[in-house]
Amino acid sequence: MANFLQGKHIVLGVTGGIAAYKAAVLTRLLVKAGAEVQPVMTAAAKEFITPLTLSTLSGKPVISEFFTRNTGEWHSHVDLGLWADAMVVAPATACTIGKMAGGVADNMLVTTYLSAKAPVFVCPAMDLDMMAHPSTVANLRRLESYGNIIIDAAEGELASHLTGKGRMAEPEDIVKTLERYFRNAQCPSPLSGRKVMITAGPTREKIDPVRYISNYSTGKMGYALADELAARGADVIVVSGPVSVKPTQPGVKVVGVESALEMAEKSRELFPQCDVAVMCAAVADYRPAAPSATKIKREGNEPPQLQLVENPDIARSLGEMKQDDQLLVGFALETDHENENARKKMQRKKLDMVVLNSLRDAGAGFGTDTNKVTILTRKDNVSHEFPLKSKAEVAGDIADLIELLYCNE
Ligand code: C5P
Repeated sequence: MANFLQGKHIVLGVTGGIAAYKAAVLTRLLVKAGAEVQPVMTAAAKEFITPLTLSTLSGKPVISEFFTRNTGEWHSHVDLGLWADAMVVAPATACTIGKMAGGVADNMLVTTYLSAKAPVFVCPAMDLDMMAHPSTVANLRRLESYGNIIIDAAEGELASHLTGKGRMAEPEDIVKTLERYFRNAQCPSPLSGRKVMITAGPTREKIDPVRYISNYSTGKMGYALADELAARGADVIVVSGPVSVKPTQPGVKVVGVESALEMAEKSRELFPQCDVAVMCAAVADYRPAAPSATKIKREGNEPPQLQLVENPDIARSLGEMKQDDQLLVGFALETDHENENARKKMQRKKLDMVVLNSLRDAGAGFGTDTNKVTILTRKDNVSHEFPLKSKAEVAGDIADLIELLYCNE
């Protein structure tokens, strides 16, 4: 694959948070990918990581002040802003985010930001309460409204030893986002600007207010696809059952649903505005016919008999609604006669493409980080077999074939 970071000029703004140590790894990865990195540090950042570390890794003296005190050499933030193909602020503290949002140009980093003509990527990192504060939320929204790209913070253990949202995105993921940005800029995907809906995760079918029927789906495959398609410029919305995964790609919208009926209603509502729909959810085939309004008690009662009724087949109903210019992609998890069953499913549900995984393959299916798929397409009657890969890579293969189908429509 072409290296889209080769020769790119990246201004790396580093601010004063504990995640500043990750700026060293980020610098190293960017340089390794062929980019030229110019670190710009705030005074507070230098309390967390030394300029020597970043200048050694980047091969460029760190810029921090408007001029060098002993020589009087002026550091032009305007030139730096023009030099940059991208500016990345990682970590971005609440303070710097606020200054960027309000144009408080009292340091080299913010003046460079205000002069930058290139896209700006902001990687927030802070404690969970600061992250959730309406001021931070509003400032990030404001940066987005300026066209800046927020690489959202993740949830996990924080420097305060509290657990919550505020961990800076991993350097590897930041590099991936930059690579994808430059790839899209150089060779835009046919999916760029297209509306894509993805169903993901399991559904929960209520037995009573505290119990439900569900399955082992974690949503990993659906969310990996959402990230991949969004990275290719698509406008992605995930209709998601209850999962703990989150999209990592900026701009992916998530609509949470619980039951198959809710998922069906939302999907049918959104589908007419979509160019592509990918049915990745593990929808429960049946639901309790009459869920109890109160908790079913054990004492003195016979075990209850659960009467089940069939849930709507969402993929099939979208297949019925599908217009000629829409693409519908389904998944099939099979245990035997895989290709034959998947092809029948494709006909029955009027799908344009089926991603087949077999439970006979180790590393494929629910909960794993890997998958092994065969992708069948209706139009050309071809089966594309792929080896075991990470779900992110599988998402790339699926996206490639969707692009191909989309071009040939
Ligand atoms: O029929 P089966 O469940 O094997 O079909 C799998 C495909 O159909 C998947 O794409 C799944 O998301 C979709 N499906 C659906 N609604 C259902 C059952 C399956 O959309 N009720």
